Amino acid sequence: MSTELMTKIKGIKAFTVFDSRGYPTIEARVLLDNGKSGSAIVPSGASTGKLEALELRDGRGNYFGGKSVENAIHNIDDIITPALVGMSVTDQAAIDTRMIALDGTVNKSKLGANAILAVSMACAQAAARDQDVPLFRMLSQKNHFEIPIPEIQIIGGGAHSAGSIDVQDFMIICYGASTLMEVYEMTFNIYQAAGRILQQQGRLVGVADEGGFWPRFNTNEEGLQILVQAMKNAGYKPGEDVGISLDLAAAEYHRDGKYAFNIEERLLDPSEYYEVIASWLNNYPICSVEDPFAEDDVESWKKLTDEFGGKVQIIGDDLFVTNKERLLRGVEGKWANSVLIKLNQIGSVSETLDCIDAALEHNFQPVVSARSGETEDSFIAHLAVGTHAGQFKVGSWTRSERMVKWNELLRIQEYLKVQNLEYSLSKFRWKKV
Ligand code: PGA
Ligand code: ZN
Repeated sequence: MSTELMTKIKGIKAFTVFDSRGYPTIEARVLLDNGKSGSAIVPSGASTGKLEALELRDGRGNYFGGKSVENAIHNIDDIITPALVGMSVTDQAAIDTRMIALDGTVNKSKLGANAILAVSMACAQAAARDQDVPLFRMLSQKNHFEIPIPEIQIIGGGAHSAGSIDVQDFMIICYGASTLMEVYEMTFNIYQAAGRILQQQGRLVGVADEGGFWPRFNTNEEGLQILVQAMKNAGYKPGEDVGISLDLAAAEYHRDGKYAFNIEERLLDPSEYYEVIASWLNNYPICSVEDPFAEDDVESWKKLTDEFGGKVQIIGDDLFVTNKERLLRGVEGKWANSVLIKLNQIGSVSETLDCIDAALEHNFQPVVSARSGETEDSFIAHLAVGTHAGQFKVGSWTRSERMVKWNELLRIQEYLKVQNLEYSLSKFRWKKV
């Protein structure tokens, strides 16, 4: 395309907005020379992996508890914007490469991954506006789309409920459903049923960071029992209509080479802990486990994948941190069979797309995911559909920062219907038969 025909970036505005925990984060708006624009907001994690790109926070005394992001915003104003003005907005790879070079560190610690990602996402949105198509359509030119199968949280623990239980997410995957609306109906029923059980038993504290129930349990296994009961009370067959998906976020309770189930006052060495996880996989209708081990306990990852990888989805989140190079090491070493995809772990749209492509190429299942600190931005719904990733995890079935993503899938479906484009609900690969 000749340079006269390219739509160029004219300016970038960045400012502070607040996420679902009320913490400061960055919204960026990219303005184009034809008057169009695109904007995006970056999310923020709580149970972050050691190898994630750096989220730049000011640490300025008590000002917003040290969590303000003004330095990152200054980096957008003073360093990123002058370098990007005049570039073609459609060349996402060139835009991201430019910002990565300006930063010059391995973990984006100079400019901040939050600064780079806000601009990167806003550029993608602006490019879609420029082409007058929704973002997912810009990301894929295929004519058949897969609506990613949701993984939806029912009970929230770990760092998202002040350690009320050690396991972070007790979720469901409604693999017996054939449409998205059926998934949502099953989720509605199971969420309500779980709430009733917890309330009747006096074990409901409130809702955790991602909208799942904040429980009062004596053991982690109680979460599995409640989930099975809730599925049955709602009229579904556990293991046939719906499976349990766990995110253990195990690095959060991994200390000095051991795993501490704090609520049970048990300190387990890796082999004892492995047996606990294996017994759960054998005794409950669990179809997916994420971060069952800390990221440096690679031996346990390999053992679990070898023993259970043929029948259970094993997802690396903190293990891979959406980093293509790390993922390829995991593919080679058979550490897992799936990878969680979070834009802000790596810090740019292009690198995220590269990681998803590498996963698909090597038959690893990519699961596009939100963070525990989320916003009204629904970019990731488009990312999940547009990349044909097949799975989507954004928290529970309450709170608008979660529902905006579930609802966006419905909007995308409506668009596909109107455009006469084919679509179907993605199949879950590890459904037990
Ligand atoms: P985080 O939690 O956003 O707090 O890291 C989500 C997850 O672990 O998947
Ligand atoms: Zn996780």
